[in-house]
Amino acid sequence: MRFPPAAGPLVGRCQVPGDKSIGHRALLFGAIAEGESHLRGLSSGEDNLSTRRCLEALGVSLRSDATGLTVRGQGLRGLRAPAGPLDCGNSGTTARLMAGLVAGAGLRARFVGDASLSGRPMGRVAAPLRAMGAQVEGREEGGRLYLPLEVAGGALEGLRYESPVASAQVKSCVLLAGLGAAGPTELIEPAPSRDHTERMLAAMGAPLEAGPGWARVQPLRHPLRPLELEIPGDPSSAAFLAVAAALVPGSALRVEGVCLNPTRDAFIDVLSEMGAQIARRDLGEQAGEPVGALEVEGGVPLRGVRVEGPRVPSLIDEIPILAVAAAAAEGETVFEGVGELRVKESDRIAAVCALLAGLGVEVEAWETGFRVVGQGPNARLHAAAPFNPAGDHRLAMSAAVAALITGEGVEVEDFACSAVSFPGFDQVLAGLQRTPR
Ligand code: S3P
Repeated sequence: MRFPPAAGPLVGRCQVPGDKSIGHRALLFGAIAEGESHLRGLSSGEDNLSTRRCLEALGVSLRSDATGLTVRGQGLRGLRAPAGPLDCGNSGTTARLMAGLVAGAGLRARFVGDASLSGRPMGRVAAPLRAMGAQVEGREEGGRLYLPLEVAGGALEGLRYESPVASAQVKSCVLLAGLGAAGPTELIEPAPSRDHTERMLAAMGAPLEAGPGWARVQPLRHPLRPLELEIPGDPSSAAFLAVAAALVPGSALRVEGVCLNPTRDAFIDVLSEMGAQIARRDLGEQAGEPVGALEVEGGVPLRGVRVEGPRVPSLIDEIPILAVAAAAAEGETVFEGVGELRVKESDRIAAVCALLAGLGVEVEAWETGFRVVGQGPNARLHAAAPFNPAGDHRLAMSAAVAALITGEGVEVEDFACSAVSFPGFDQVLAGLQRTPR
């Protein structure tokens, strides 16, 4: 699909799909509650669909109607062993959280996924699950463990686990397994990761305590209460529109109903530090999460910044689009301590550097980070060749936004992969641009 240069400023109000991370959790936790959960605003993106399909394979009934989705909770011990493999598609959250759920429920299941997911490390969940007494077998290559993965629960022990990575997927996997263990389970992480699991499970009555960087769960002795949720908009999706508006002079965009959980919204602070006119407005609460509108005005010159340290997990998914903003800034932007990007849906350090280098931007990558030499606000980028996002939704959308500041646009191959998190992104982006009269 060809993305043209900006036709005009991005003006108006819009919404983005429901938060993908919250959606996965609402589906999974609704399935192990007792009673019917009602979810509104669940994303129709492929990743949340993968979780839905896996839950159906575990015997959970899910029914959609005009008002939303009803999940009939079975209780943790009421799930049944799947007849075939659980296909997690492109979704790491599905695979890793579902592995903890299957182990905690005392079931056996085989996990498979697409080519990208089959190349992502699963040892990070296998290690704590094995230490709790689960059996986990997978494909081993070069000292790492990958899908297909076979997980079998049983009589699990509680565990105190110091995770080597700040990962909400690892944390959530361990906590879910801990619900079905014989004793308390505690997880400590090197920096705080997104805390949707802790918020939602605690609101459902789970015996869980948590603080920044740690969480502790007791064995589940009482049923979880079902959910009544309107899922807020996904900040990671809003970030693409926010950067698009920031880059195009004259833009005045308001993205409404966005989840503004502090473990997710650090990209807003980085854009502010870069000099962008971006503000959180009309703050409130929805589904146990802070929400609000994001207002952005375009055309203010940006400057390069340093992104590193404990806030990295709170903006890890936004780094590709922040790198696009950095390309249009004055001066250099450095992303350090972001090695986790190498094991996302693609090697995002390599992919984002390939995108920017292909647009004529000077970049330099190393194992744990990269730097972008900004071209300044008046620079026009030029795509020498079509960009292939290698199936990575966030790279595809980053390229579409970068096209706005090119001379002649960018051809993005396989743009359909953006439906993993933001179906219809191309139409939303085009629809917000106002042709100057
Ligand atoms: C997610 C956690 C993050 C994030 C991913 C979604 C989640 O991954 O990058 O897009 O929903 O728990 P890690 O847990 O691997 O850091």
